[in-house]
Amino acid sequence: MQIPQDTINEIRERADIVEIVSRFVDLKRAGVNYKALCPFHEEKTPSFVVSPDKQIFHCFGCGRGGNIFSFLMEIEGVSFPEAVRELGKHYGIEVPSRPQPTDGSSQNESLYRVCDFAARWYHRQLVDKTTGGPTQRYLLDRGIPEEAWATFQLGYAGEGWDQFWQAARRRDVPIDVMTRVKLVVSSDKSTGYYDYFRQRLMFPIALLSGRVVAFGARTLDDGGQPKYLNSPESPIYAKRRILYGLHVARPAIRSERRAILVEGYTDCIALHLGGFQNTVASCGTAITAEHAGLLRRLTREVILMPDADPAGMDSALSSGSIFLAAGLDVRVVVLKAGLDPDSAIRLDRDKFAKNVGGALEYFAYLSYIMKDRAMSPRDKETLIQRVITGLGSSGDKLRYEVLAQEASKVLGIDPESLPKWRGPRGIQDAGRTDEVRRAEVPKRTRLEKMLLRLILESAPEAAAALDKLDPDDFSQDDCREFYKLLDSAWENHIDIRSKTFQQKAESAGLEGLAAEISLIPIPPGNPGILLKDTVRRVKELQIRDELNMLSEKLRILPEDSDEAIAVAKQFEMLKQALMEL
Ligand code: UTP
Ligand code: MN
Repeated sequence: MQIPQDTINEIRERADIVEIVSRFVDLKRAGVNYKALCPFHEEKTPSFVVSPDKQIFHCFGCGRGGNIFSFLMEIEGVSFPEAVRELGKHYGIEVPSRPQPTDGSSQNESLYRVCDFAARWYHRQLVDKTTGGPTQRYLLDRGIPEEAWATFQLGYAGEGWDQFWQAARRRDVPIDVMTRVKLVVSSDKSTGYYDYFRQRLMFPIALLSGRVVAFGARTLDDGGQPKYLNSPESPIYAKRRILYGLHVARPAIRSERRAILVEGYTDCIALHLGGFQNTVASCGTAITAEHAGLLRRLTREVILMPDADPAGMDSALSSGSIFLAAGLDVRVVVLKAGLDPDSAIRLDRDKFAKNVGGALEYFAYLSYIMKDRAMSPRDKETLIQRVITGLGSSGDKLRYEVLAQEASKVLGIDPESLPKWRGPRGIQDAGRTDEVRRAEVPKRTRLEKMLLRLILESAPEAAAALDKLDPDDFSQDDCREFYKLLDSAWENHIDIRSKTFQQKAESAGLEGLAAEISLIPIPPGNPGILLKDTVRRVKELQIRDELNMLSEKLRILPEDSDEAIAVAKQFEMLKQALMEL
């Protein structure tokens, strides 16, 4: 850990856990403490407690707890140094940046940095009249004024083939960092590199913390193809977990107690400008249970505002059912045919606001669609699938059944014909049969295998886990080899669930382990959280083992010998690392 302990302590002293947690959770005073519904697991009565005195949080439901740093790490999915930096920034405490490090989490750090650099560079190209003139006019014509350029850090990817590349090169950004987030691509002619985004209006896409991780880039000439060019997924960008504009909309979502979801970047910005600052956009990707989880941590209600075309309505049915399954109330705004939110709010703001107020509750919307459309039996089947698949993502059996019951009424089908709740996989059959054998396998080995299992299972979260881990975290040779294989597959963009990966495992002689891992039952719970937890526990066991070894060493070394002092120092460092896990 390169951040000086003094700085960490200073931040710890200055920061207020109640303030930080309140940005995510609705805290209510309860005696000397604060209480809320736990943001890390689903519950109906609050068991999440924050203590301002002790500056810690704890959930009596799921057992999660820790200090202000662990809270941010957990809720934003960031590393310890990232959490420290974010808080440092918030409280105006400078966190010294360290020299280019080489471990995994800091590789991500360099990706974050290049995206941030790019966003600022594109932004400058836009606000500078000489480079940004035409784009400025384009935005103003669309009713997007200068304040919004700043709020959303809009930008312009300039003329020319490699201006960004040259600018980044002058800043000594390594080329592989630029290519990993596809800001720069290598040219076929092997003459060098060129910018991926050129002559486009840039929409930076950021995490909840405001860190830029990707870009959407719109063509400026209306026939240009594709209309939007988007960053591909990368170690720092997982589409299924990001909503455009969430970092800007967060305070309004919390105060309004609801979020509005639109499809397009421009819709999102137009709504913010029209006074609906609680708006986020889905960036043209399908809504996932993880998106729903993101919003669910901030609010209880989401208003969907799809484009008024068949594709928009279909996606509202799908995403609506996923939000319902996540425990959110869902309403849907019906716009006049052919309109999107951007054009609707521009056309008549008052009417638009009324329309939002009159949004239909999800099942009413479903019934409206059923009546509105002439559907063939096949169309109806597709629609039912759409609804039921989404509802099935519920982690809660009762909720699923209540919702499915309701859906079957509206859809006019026999509830018995609906699929049964499939539940978090494999709860009941959790390896009880080989209790004895399990007990003989050391805990650390079992945990390492479980970790590999979870990485294989949770593609979206796998990247972060692989990044946080290190071959040395594994005590078992074969687990370590398997981890390296996973890590290099990820680096080389090989799908870890693909045949190709399987073959790689086989040729590395790891097929036995691969099979064993794939049979490990996955415990219930949110797989992302489970994975992160397991990473931490594996790291913890690794450190504890090493601590034991060192204290053995210390026992036999002559006191005050140089070696003893060195070992003691290492011991202290590890203890620190353990605390910071
Ligand atoms: P739209 O085509 O509705 O774009 O796609 P828009 O945002 O409303 O843009 P304007 O108002 O016409 O300028 C909705 C969203 O789908 C994604 C983008 O996220 C876009 O905001 N999309 C669309 C793409 O990723 N690629 C495309 O080629 C088109
Ligand atoms: Mn649109």
